[in-house]
Amino acid sequence: MAEIKLLICSDLHVSNSANETVEVASFVDVLKPNEGPLHDLKDFLYQNNLTCDFLVCPGDLGDAADPDSIRFGWKELADIGGICGASVLATAGNHDLDSERLYDKADCKGVLQGLSPQFPVLEQSLWDQYWARHYCIFKRSGIRFVLLNSCGFHESSGESAYGRLSDKTLNDLKNDLLSESCDINVLVCHHPPQGQSEGKQGDGDYIKNGDELIHILDHGNYGDWLVIYGHKHFAKLQYSRGSANSPILLSSGSASAYPFGDYGKDGKNQIHFVTLLVDDFNENGLLGTIESYEWDKVNGWLPSVAEGGLPDICGFGHRPQIRVLCRQIADAFGESDVFLNLSVLIEKFPMLRYLDPIVRKKLEYNLRHVHGIAYHGAKQRFRKI
Ligand SMILES: [Fe+2]
Repeated sequence: MAEIKLLICSDLHVSNSANETVEVASFVDVLKPNEGPLHDLKDFLYQNNLTCDFLVCPGDLGDAADPDSIRFGWKELADIGGICGASVLATAGNHDLDSERLYDKADCKGVLQGLSPQFPVLEQSLWDQYWARHYCIFKRSGIRFVLLNSCGFHESSGESAYGRLSDKTLNDLKNDLLSESCDINVLVCHHPPQGQSEGKQGDGDYIKNGDELIHILDHGNYGDWLVIYGHKHFAKLQYSRGSANSPILLSSGSASAYPFGDYGKDGKNQIHFVTLLVDDFNENGLLGTIESYEWDKVNGWLPSVAEGGLPDICGFGHRPQIRVLCRQIADAFGESDVFLNLSVLIEKFPMLRYLDPIVRKKLEYNLRHVHGIAYHGAKQRFRKI
């Protein structure tokens, strides 16, 4: 089965402790290149021979628009992409532009435009399109990508607290989408396209006109959509408001910023490997899995634990009626069966791989309380109680 793998590495917030204007905001410092999550990530990927097709950064390479931190972050991503054998794709975050007007005469947008390799995409024509139209659009490996700049107005005053898309940008994008269809589509932006304030994440920073963006993606016959964004530093997978086929929203965790204390267990540094099933689309629509890893100073990068952020593995694309699925699983137990391994159930019900983490928890609850079947995560098996 053909698959395309993306590594999402967002919100680096590389700090520059030599810049006394701003506080250090992450575990990565341009003055200490041989320590921290990005340095560890290179070792981790290399040692585990982890590869992917695309390395995706949804913004905030640097912190507070410090030019050296942005350049350092982009170079780190280029190095990580090289280790993975991946093309690097990105979009601008609010910290990559002078959103807070800290630098009177500096050309912060020019820092991004002057990065080498070119940011946010290598090809000159796409680079021109991104900076002229606030997005670029292209097809690679059977997937249509849209890199969207939700920070296009951030160097104007009073626009720093949120993302915004103009009507013109959305109209242009809609016309481009209409010109050619593609089954599987990935849109990368920095801000959440819809409100995401639960768990003390704060409100009001979503993209103004983001509902219109989702409406366009959901209502057009442009194929299925995965929207990947950063900014919140809060890893979460959900479906957007809209139809039963609405775009899938992946809010990426931050790879290396200091976690926000208010988030509790969700305040952790995470990266995500997203695997998209390319040739299964006609059968099941857009399906995929997400493997998440988390970092701490003591252990470095490890598969994520169950609590907080995204779990070590989850999926998306299968939106079942939980009670129906639970009944089918219960029926799969024979009279004499006490245990059924998860792998056996996945053979019978392959779509179990593509359940999002919330549905997965509800499934476990329903199986236990309605059917008397408990799931033992460590042993990866179901057991009649
Ligand atoms: Fe950020």
